[in-house]
Amino acid sequence: MTTKVAIVGAGGMLDYHAEGFRHAGAEIVAIADVDESAARKAASQHGIEKAFGSVEAMLAGADFDAASMIVPNKFHAPLAIEFLNAGKHVFCEKPPAINASEVEQMIVAATSADKVLMFNFNNRARPESYAMMEFVENGRVGTINSAQAKWIRRTGIPGFGGWFTTKALSGGGPLIDLLHMVDLAMYLMGYPEPAHVLGQTFNDFIEDKQFKGPWGIPDNADGINDVETAAHGFVTFKTGQVLSLQVSWAEMVKREEVSVVFQGTRAGGKIERLFGSDGLDDTAIDTCELYFQEGGKSISQKIEVDECPDMGRARSAANFIRAIEGTEAPLNTPAQALSLMRVIDAIYESARSKQPVTI
Ligand SMILES: NC(=O)c1ccc[n+]([C@@H]2O[C@H](COP(=O)([O-])OP(=O)(O)OC[C@H]3O[C@@H](n4cnc5c(N)ncnc54)[C@H](O)[C@@H]3O)[C@@H](O)[C@H]2O)c1
Repeated sequence: MTTKVAIVGAGGMLDYHAEGFRHAGAEIVAIADVDESAARKAASQHGIEKAFGSVEAMLAGADFDAASMIVPNKFHAPLAIEFLNAGKHVFCEKPPAINASEVEQMIVAATSADKVLMFNFNNRARPESYAMMEFVENGRVGTINSAQAKWIRRTGIPGFGGWFTTKALSGGGPLIDLLHMVDLAMYLMGYPEPAHVLGQTFNDFIEDKQFKGPWGIPDNADGINDVETAAHGFVTFKTGQVLSLQVSWAEMVKREEVSVVFQGTRAGGKIERLFGSDGLDDTAIDTCELYFQEGGKSISQKIEVDECPDMGRARSAANFIRAIEGTEAPLNTPAQALSLMRVIDAIYESARSKQPVTI
């Protein structure tokens, strides 16, 4: 039986969700956006039969099994809960919500509806991540003692005064927006339970137009800019593993870098994307390597994988459909999303209180 999907939000990620859902054999039957004209335009561009100006109208007027949320972060939890309560599976863009307590409420709704709840941690669906996870699972890496996660930009503020820079709508700046590498590091480490977190955030350049990224949403001159532009943190886990992290939209770094580096008991490794000066995916340089000792030599082994400019976005959406249909294991679980959001909440709390935080 074909899985029928509805989409909420005609945002930038729609292309990838649509590509992935269709690639997995699903049918996209409806789209809703509070801006009804945006929903209509997206419906005609993507060959989607029905367009609605509200989710309530879509729930009443379309028949579907699953829904994907491509809306500003503040609406992730309330909309996901509304769809789960209506008996739909939910695929939600990252971040899972604006804080951990909202994720807890989403999990309650998913459990009582007995429906799949997944998040778009698309970097787990990159070929590099599949390859590295295989080395982790087959014992080649050993235990990952320590990892360093980075998504750093020199000039990457996604528009001034819009929802991204308004804490009440986004939950925060790059710490919550660029959470992918923290997630990927914790994923490779086996999602250990966090113990303690120490962090600091900075908001330099949050009003400085020189630091605007080449994508994002239009500026709003009367809007709010009250989120951080950079965050640094250190996480210890109950297992004894440790993770350091650096994320920024605007920070004095050489170039945009997206990476996880780790040190295992048998091998270390790196998954890295370095962006070109235009900051766009197509000009990026990808590296995937394993580091180990063999025959008295230090080996750095290049791991060859297919190119994946979209950073796993379509593959991640396809995995949601296959997870619903039971043909693939889900790439992420609600419990992992909750653990990640607890770490993020704790970094904000540590920055606020200037104290280490126990989770
Ligand atoms: N996984 C990734 O690589 C990636 C990349 C970019 C953005 N995102 C995520 O996608 C989400 C959307 O980001 P965006 O850049 O597309 O935002 P956007 O502002 O461009 O688009 C969001 C759309 O949602 C609509 N909308 C807003 N509130 C709504 C509501 N309550 N109900 C229905 N529609 C509503 C808006 O009218 C707009 O058309 C965010 O959570 C963001 O973090 C993920």
